[in-house]
Amino acid sequence: MRKDLVENIEPGVAQHMAENVLALLLHLTSDESPLTELAAGYSRPQTVFYEYFGFFLVYSFTTAKIMYSVFFVVALILARLTYVDPAPALKNGAGFFSELGKGLVAVSAAFLGAAVSANVVALVMDKVLGKSLSWFSSVFSCIALYGPAALTGALASQLLVGRVREHTAYTSLMLLQASLAALIQSIDLGAGGVLFLSSAPFAVALLINKVLTRPGDDISLWSYAIGQLSPLVVGTTLFCAVLDVFVPLTGRMGEEAPAEHIIATIVAVNGAYILPLTVPFVHRYSHRILVRAVIMLSMITGLAMAIFSMRSPFDPMHQKRLFVIHMENITSEEQHLHVAAADGAPGFHKLAVNIAKEFSIPDATPTTMVMDEWNSDWDTMYPFSSFLTPYKFDLPLRAEHQDPIEHDFTITAINDKIDEVAGTRSFTMVVNHPGIIWTAVAFDAHVLNWTLDNNPPDEYARHHIKEGSFYGHDVWSVDLVTKLQRANGSFATGASDGRVKVNFVGIHEKAMWPGKKAEKALGGRAMKLFEEMDEWLERETGGTVDAMFLGCVGGVALI
Ligand SMILES: *[C@@H]1O[C@H](CO)[C@@H](O)[C@H](O)[C@H]1NC(C)=O
Repeated sequence: MRKDLVENIEPGVAQHMAENVLALLLHLTSDESPLTELAAGYSRPQTVFYEYFGFFLVYSFTTAKIMYSVFFVVALILARLTYVDPAPALKNGAGFFSELGKGLVAVSAAFLGAAVSANVVALVMDKVLGKSLSWFSSVFSCIALYGPAALTGALASQLLVGRVREHTAYTSLMLLQASLAALIQSIDLGAGGVLFLSSAPFAVALLINKVLTRPGDDISLWSYAIGQLSPLVVGTTLFCAVLDVFVPLTGRMGEEAPAEHIIATIVAVNGAYILPLTVPFVHRYSHRILVRAVIMLSMITGLAMAIFSMRSPFDPMHQKRLFVIHMENITSEEQHLHVAAADGAPGFHKLAVNIAKEFSIPDATPTTMVMDEWNSDWDTMYPFSSFLTPYKFDLPLRAEHQDPIEHDFTITAINDKIDEVAGTRSFTMVVNHPGIIWTAVAFDAHVLNWTLDNNPPDEYARHHIKEGSFYGHDVWSVDLVTKLQRANGSFATGASDGRVKVNFVGIHEKAMWPGKKAEKALGGRAMKLFEEMDEWLERETGGTVDAMFLGCVGGVALI
């Protein structure tokens, strides 16, 4: 984007990045380099590695499996040893397991409650209030919205499961996490380590809990402090990394993606991981206090929703990404303006209406176009185009728009041979594109063979071929062998002589805004429009939109 400039990069980021890359390169080119082993092909990772309190730890999956399983057994023994029977008369051990069962229900319910409650709030924000992405401009602000929601759900669930002893909830949590760590590692997912790291200190805390507790206390506050430290630190690290990636990504993953739910779920799940001891802790207090806490948290959630509803998703440093194409159609001699966004934030339709009013013909009503494999308008950005919500506008026929478009953009077939017996046609598709870059062609055909790879899909299908060209390269070609379609076959587009209808499009190298701003005079009418529209957008949206403008040339050829 336009503001991806050195001055906007946090100090130290480049240093950090470069140091890591250098270390990696030095290792990969040293005598210990594992690169030679990779020649045999891909093998699934077998190593667990992470940084923990400043130490970089590395061990094998086998070590991990042994360690986590042994820990689970130790945790189980410890839970049994520290268990105090509330009714010692029974003395048959059945009490331990039924208590444990209750505890497991409580901690699982809290987790589910957090996830469900955060997602209900997400649904209301998105579908009822129409205020999605309200947290977009500030990466961690979503915690203020979905954190209270998740906590409300976690505590409310405890009203349903009823009373559990504090000690039981504490040990159940440890056993649940320890068993999941072993289970996840047993299916060869190194991520099990995360749960091992959070649950191992619980065992330490339980072991010394007896010494630390004051009479009348089930679990000492010290045990909470010891148990919380690891999940708090590991979880916060995870939180930062995950939100840093996913929050900006929600502005690029399309209107269809459930952005609000993705963020709500991340906050709830990560929140549950960071503060696992909330469950035993609330059972330290009476039912009345729990009820009050739930009411209080509901009010805070409501307040957060109200405040976030007033926020607008984008600001000048966290802009909405807009894609604008000025399309000159060689075949129809028409010009259209295409505008698309890649996020589900509210307000895009209104912006499109205003763009239509300002730049299209009078009385234009903006309608969204269907985005699918056959929408060739956006093939320049294929396959990213599938994330776009596109609008299409007619452009007014001003005097300068009447001139025919100068171009030498052609698609032709040479070496054309039809094999009647085999029912195939072989030809070379030649794309001639002087002054046009990043050409893309799309067509329907049953391709048997091509010079791209060895296995085109063995069926009648939509194909997209894109080329990344650089200045001075004006021609590319591809050899194709296609299956002839039956004359009265079920396929509507395949002509019986094997000719294919090719939709082609490319970017006019001199008509890209802001890239070619300095040479705008060479970009013709598209650049004039872009300059005007860019200024208008800046004013209209208060600098909260960053648009990429592309002057494209496209058409249809039957070859
Ligand atoms: C150009 O116009 C033709 C005929 O109307 C249409 O089929 C084709 O999809 C258009 N192509 C582009 C890229 O606008």
